[in-house]
Amino acid sequence: MIDPPRSATPSTIALIGYRGSGKSTVGRVLAEALNWEFSDADERVEERAGKSIAAIFAEDGEPRFRDLEASVLGELLGESERVIATGGGVILRPENRLALVQNAYVVWLNATAESLWERLQTDPSTSTRRPALASGGFEEVRTLLAAREPWYRESATIEFNVEGRTPVEITADILAAWFEWAARRPIPPSPR
Ligand code: S3P
Repeated sequence: MIDPPRSATPSTIALIGYRGSGKSTVGRVLAEALNWEFSDADERVEERAGKSIAAIFAEDGEPRFRDLEASVLGELLGESERVIATGGGVILRPENRLALVQNAYVVWLNATAESLWERLQTDPSTSTRRPALASGGFEEVRTLLAAREPWYRESATIEFNVEGRTPVEITADILAAWFEWAARRPIPPSPR
């Protein structure tokens, strides 16, 4: 895990992790607990494009979605006192990974492929929002998760396994870790 450099503002928390790891649900609970704003990057992309993510993939292609995703990430990372739920593939681009590390306390919500697959089956937004990224099915989760794990790890300040944990329990864990991390940080000198 990378400790973000001193210039990073501790008042932005970004949640990363594979589809179905609970980033949006936990993000809302966490933002409420901190009395911060919450932003879902996927929702902002959809607003910007005026269509669903599935439609962007189908009509404009994945690279167009990734461009929009990178631009929305940059925008959201510039705002403070904000919890950001990112899309599961945000870590694919090296510039996104760098932007995350430099500008946020980055929390990786992790679980096994089996457990993520199970969670995706019961998530109502799966069919509308989540276009197939590869072969589909459990095999897609297994192979993409394995390929992405090093990038989640590289981008993360801290990792939590979400299996068997409620959003409130995960939020409590994140808050405890974040307060501890923020308290340890030297106060940057004020600009002249
Ligand atoms: C994607 C995950 C989705 C969404 C898009 C691509 C991915 O976000 O950004 O369908 O590449 O894993 P969620 O993780 O919020 O489902």
